[in-house]
Amino acid sequence: MNANTQEKPIYMDYHATTPMDPRVVERMLYYMTQAYGNASSTDHVYGDEAEAAVATAARQVATLLGTAPRNIIFTSGATESINLALQGHCNARGTCQQIAVSPIEHKAVLDTCQALQEQGKATLTWLHVDQQGRIDLDYLREVCQTGIDLICIMAANNEIGTIAPIQEIANIAAQYNAAYFCDATQGAGKIPIDFDTIGITYLALSAHKMYGPKGTGALLIQSDANLVPLIHGGGHQRGMRSGTLNVPGIVGLGEACKLRYQEMDQDEPAIQAKRDHLQSLLQAHIPQLVINGDLKHRLAGNLHISIPGLDNSMLIARIRHQLAISTGSACTSGIEAPSHVLQAIHLPTDLIEGALRISIGKFTTDTDITTAAHLLTQTYKAIMQKHDQ
Ligand SMILES: Cc1ncc(COP(=O)(O)O)c(C=O)c1O
Repeated sequence: MNANTQEKPIYMDYHATTPMDPRVVERMLYYMTQAYGNASSTDHVYGDEAEAAVATAARQVATLLGTAPRNIIFTSGATESINLALQGHCNARGTCQQIAVSPIEHKAVLDTCQALQEQGKATLTWLHVDQQGRIDLDYLREVCQTGIDLICIMAANNEIGTIAPIQEIANIAAQYNAAYFCDATQGAGKIPIDFDTIGITYLALSAHKMYGPKGTGALLIQSDANLVPLIHGGGHQRGMRSGTLNVPGIVGLGEACKLRYQEMDQDEPAIQAKRDHLQSLLQAHIPQLVINGDLKHRLAGNLHISIPGLDNSMLIARIRHQLAISTGSACTSGIEAPSHVLQAIHLPTDLIEGALRISIGKFTTDTDITTAAHLLTQTYKAIMQKHDQ
């Protein structure tokens, strides 16, 4: 089941997006070509079948994330889920909300928080992270004592792969009566997350980070949480998100969640073994290599490295037709700015300039690993040789 073809570069940018699982595509195709009804059409069987498919998808998402189907709102992806949670939370409360936010959140969270602050609906308190992207929990407790309404800390970072202690964060939130918004876009389907048991208030996820389609996601909302909708219309999804349901996309998200639920326990250790192999091959050939992130709590498919003295964009330019990797987050890489995550963890400038984000997944083969290691070391050596001449 290798998603790479011979002519195409080896794909190692799974944090940007994943190839779709063919089983997900197959299910979606049926709902595009055969069962194409509108899930709100109650007058015929086409509508009934679409509605049943949406209900099944809600159960599949709920099972993966440990909650009830009624707590799920389908959206166009994590960015919309994040906006619905944060804007919806602030708009539902008349007073300016005190938000404690991690500086290494995705731009979708940071920009939404900033916009709310500019609108006078929120005041932001920046949390502290260390050089591995780990949240300072003592500082979180300290700021909560000043009266925090909402905590925003992601489950796993999309650049350096650091996994957050979401249970401890949720406990702190509960202790201080704050809501907890968790962007689980990179964590869902890769690490176990039990929404109800952990006690998360709002959780965002996206299908295209777990072998599902782009443009589909969900927001999980704790049953007693109060949100004002962003999109008004026909009152779909209990009025929380109007608009005709994207049935094939929702089916794809559901199927992707079902497969993650069934296969995550086997897939993730296998992905980790491949990542560790790539890491050791690179370390053997490039002794000065620095591995970023929390090496004890890191996504299995994440390998974020820095090579001091290397210009990362020069390496990417040389390798881009053979290997697809990234200098930073794909969602923001259109903008030529140093990664806010690497800056927030205070990585020295030469390590930021020499940073490469490699991310692999279940379709990555052993051959991909050895070829990528070879390509990276040879390209690096060629650049440095030219540099020395
Ligand atoms: C951590 C994180 N949050 C949010 C997003 C945005 O997701 P979407 O593309 O579904 O809007 C991404 C995408 O890169 C992400 O990695």
